[in-house]
Amino acid sequence: MTFDKIYQYNFPTTIRFGAGSVKELGDYLVKNNLSKPLVVTDPTVSQLAFFKEIVEQLKRKNISAEVFYDIHKNPVKSDVYKGGDQFDATKRDCIVGIGGGAALDVARAIVLRIHHREDLFKYDDLIGGDVYVTNEVPHFITVPTTAGTGSEVGRSAIIADDVTHQKKILFAPKLLAKMVFADPGLTMELPAAVTAATGMDALTHNMEAYLAKMPHPLCEGIALEGISLIHQSLEKAVNGPDLESRSKMLIASLMGAIAFQKGLGVVHSLAHPLSSLLDTHHGLANAVNIPYGMEFNIEGFEFKFKRIARTLELKNETGEAVVQYLTDLNSKIGIPSRLRNIGVKQEHIETLSDLAFADFAHPNNPKPVSRNDFKKLYQKAL
Ligand SMILES: NC(=O)c1ccc[n+]([C@@H]2O[C@H](COP(=O)([O-])OP(=O)(O)OC[C@H]3O[C@@H](n4cnc5c(N)ncnc54)[C@H](O)[C@@H]3O)[C@@H](O)[C@H]2O)c1
Ligand SMILES: [Fe+2]
Repeated sequence: MTFDKIYQYNFPTTIRFGAGSVKELGDYLVKNNLSKPLVVTDPTVSQLAFFKEIVEQLKRKNISAEVFYDIHKNPVKSDVYKGGDQFDATKRDCIVGIGGGAALDVARAIVLRIHHREDLFKYDDLIGGDVYVTNEVPHFITVPTTAGTGSEVGRSAIIADDVTHQKKILFAPKLLAKMVFADPGLTMELPAAVTAATGMDALTHNMEAYLAKMPHPLCEGIALEGISLIHQSLEKAVNGPDLESRSKMLIASLMGAIAFQKGLGVVHSLAHPLSSLLDTHHGLANAVNIPYGMEFNIEGFEFKFKRIARTLELKNETGEAVVQYLTDLNSKIGIPSRLRNIGVKQEHIETLSDLAFADFAHPNNPKPVSRNDFKKLYQKAL
């Protein structure tokens, strides 16, 4: 690690973590003179018992929650516009995102939309749009209900174009939640398949962040501990969940998102095109690709893989052993080993390779990835 210039490190979010913490939401709003939240969630979560209970609890404190849940699995711009219109029409005073990464991303994009009324994609970070995020934003609170993206502590939202499905990143430090209520109790009923896919997303964040180029020892420490917690708990959280495994997964997913301000890498660039092109769930796309992407990264970074292997308590402290661990873990938690098992066909490979090469994540990969590398990796994983 060389410190060749001045780097900025940020760890600003306040997090209330623990079973039952969501019960503090009402008092928090009252204390901050907020009484008219737009609660942003997704169609599935809006029907779950815990969600209805949160809304009821708010009512008991004279807080009228307006619920917006009309969003896509991979969120699109029109979802954000609809939510923004509902905020205005019902004269809301803050935004509470409750859900997985999709709902939290839409909530965050609505936070931006309220006082930034140009076309949403003008604020796309990849074209330098973050400089236009200059106005105030509504008070924003997040409540994660999956343990994967860590979007609750993130400062970006991934929103796709309705027509092209191309994913854009809205990014600004202002888009950080002011308060996170991370309550593992809310993840207790998460189905096994979702637990597995989202959990592998969290593992990918921690591993890619640890390996990413930027010198950032704070994030590296967090990422290694995140890997360790997932090692201790993911299989249990999928195959026989208890509060301990759910708690470890929730904190580890949050840690992954804190760590990846350092950067992500080749696996996320392999995964993103699967969601844009085939609507594959983000976590599942990472899960299937991670053994192949990590194998690609070993050469030249053996010393880093040795530390990952140690963290995973592997007998052989090598990159190859780490890759085998990932393959075995996927199999134990029901993740398919091949892209063809999740709908990828030979004819998709060229387009996927173009999209992966154009993706924003791999420039932070510890070593460069060419278009041809992506093609070879997809071919191998097919
Ligand atoms: N902002 C970021 O930094 C960032 C990073 C990675 C991914 N993402 C985005 O996050 C999204 C994926 O998020 P995700 O993996 O959390 O999936 P998700 O939000 O799509 O949720 C997965 C499924 O689980 C259901 N669900 C959520 N909580 C539940 C609960 N407690 N009990 C039962 N079912 C529940 C949802 O309704 C959904 O059907 C993608 O849109 C991706 O682009 C954002
Ligand atoms: Fe991710």
